[in-house]
Amino acid sequence: MTTVSNDILKAADILKSEDVVAIPTETVYGLAGNIFSEKAIKRIFEVKQRPHFNPLIVHLHSIEQIEEIVEEFPEQAQLLAKHFWPGPLTLILKKKPAVPDIVTAGKDTVAIRIPNHPVTLNLLKQLPFPIAAPSANPFNRISPTRAAHVEQYFKHIIPMVLDGGECKKGIESTIVGFEKDEVVIFRLGSLSKEEIEQVIGKVKIKNKKEKAPDAPGMLAKHYSPLTKTFLVDDIEKFLKENPEMQIGVLKFMDIVMSPQIKHVELLSQNGDLNEAAANLYNALHKLDSLNLDAIVAEKFPNHGLGQSINDRLKRAAT
Ligand code: TXA
Ligand code: MG
Repeated sequence: MTTVSNDILKAADILKSEDVVAIPTETVYGLAGNIFSEKAIKRIFEVKQRPHFNPLIVHLHSIEQIEEIVEEFPEQAQLLAKHFWPGPLTLILKKKPAVPDIVTAGKDTVAIRIPNHPVTLNLLKQLPFPIAAPSANPFNRISPTRAAHVEQYFKHIIPMVLDGGECKKGIESTIVGFEKDEVVIFRLGSLSKEEIEQVIGKVKIKNKKEKAPDAPGMLAKHYSPLTKTFLVDDIEKFLKENPEMQIGVLKFMDIVMSPQIKHVELLSQNGDLNEAAANLYNALHKLDSLNLDAIVAEKFPNHGLGQSINDRLKRAAT
């Protein structure tokens, strides 16, 4: 049985007993376990069917806890942390030996963040250990932004979903690392490149499509619906070229009509890219449930969170 409730103490008990719990964050729901429990961390990989080369993000409740985890906290990292924590920023830093290899997939770095969700911050304060939490979806599938999405994926498989309502940001944290004094974005997410550059100046986006990349969130195929998905510049052109298809449409703001279109998800009727990001995964979950021939998404304006949305849609469409 999977309990879905907002009982923080029950979630804490399960985590202390070395099992896993799905937790809410401002970005997406995570599947959490004690970073020092091999049993819990193995269970996370097993439940998600996640390859072992893919390291996890360690979640903390305060900056003081960071000493226990990282060897060095460079100045630029501190600056970013001060600006954006608690929030959707993940920092990749040199790890202390105490952080188990199974959490970091053997890397000498560890990913950390302080999430901005009252329920999970409260939970973390009840625990004598940090928790590792990848997004609470099976490997490669759409990330969950509601307790019900997690329940659909893992009903009867995990003991509890800690319900914290809808995720306010709706796409994963932005991952930032440091390479030879250069600041590098490993994964674009709920913080835009522009927001980060306002704090520390020019940054590079790393975008190599490798088999075991630095951040497997950057794998070419990821975040995928089961329905065949296309990312296009022009939906009407797509319809002309595929006249036999019954499709669902995912779009920024303007309605589009055609007998071939069975459902339309508009992500923000008043053209707000932050609102669009918050609605993205729920819209994909919805479209994927309709048994259509295809999901056709139209490219978003490529700035601010539009760039993060396009990144996710590109991977969903591969
Ligand atoms: O918003 C988020 O970040 C959510 C919530 C639950 O916090 N978590 C999340 O976790 O998206 P996950 O596992 O789905 O994505 C973590 C990403 C992966 O792409 C992983 O490869 C990368 O972080 N990562 C973790 N440790 C790393 C490291 N040491 N170096 C580079 N990338 C790392
Ligand atoms: Mg994920």
